[in-house]
Amino acid sequence: MKAARWKRFELPKITDVRGNMTVVEGGEYVPFEIARAYYIYDVPSGSVRAGHAHKQLRQVFLALSGSFSLHLEDGRFSEHFTLNRPHTGVLVEPGVWRVIDNFSGGAVCMVFASLRYDASDYIRSYDEFLAYVASQHEAK
Ligand code: TYD
Repeated sequence: MKAARWKRFELPKITDVRGNMTVVEGGEYVPFEIARAYYIYDVPSGSVRAGHAHKQLRQVFLALSGSFSLHLEDGRFSEHFTLNRPHTGVLVEPGVWRVIDNFSGGAVCMVFASLRYDASDYIRSYDEFLAYVASQHEAK
C-alpha cells in the first residue's frame, strides 16, 4: 500500500527562446484554491525548518531556486523528496509531519497553501502528532 497523503507532480513548463515559465493556478494545476503563498530563503547552512503537521491545511512545496529536502511522514509511511526544479511540486495533505532541511546555498522554498495562516491548525509536538493520527484512524 502506498502513502496517499502526499504526491509529487509536474506543473506546466512553458518553454521558449526567452526562457521558461511555470504557472501555478489554484483549482487548476494545484487541486485547491490558493489562499496564501510564502517563501523561505536566506536559510543558513544546516538549518532545519518545519517540524510540525497541520489539521486542515493543504500545501504545495516547490524549489523556486536551489534545492532542499522535504521529509514526510503520516504515522504509517514516510518518504523524502529532494526538490530542485521550479516546475516540480509536492502536494501535502493534512495530517502529515514534515521536516525541511538540507538547503543549498541560494535555495528558495515556495509554498502555496489552501488556508490563511492559523496558528491553531498546527500540531507542533511529534508525540501529539502520533496521538492525533492514531485518533483519526480509530475514528474511521
Ligand atoms: P513556521 O510555520 O514555524 O515556519 P517553518 O514551517 O518554516 O518552520 O513559521 C515561522 C514564523 O512565521 C512563526 O512565528 C509563524 C509565522 N508565520 C506567519 O505569521 N504566517 C505564515 O503564513 C507562516 C507560514 C508563518
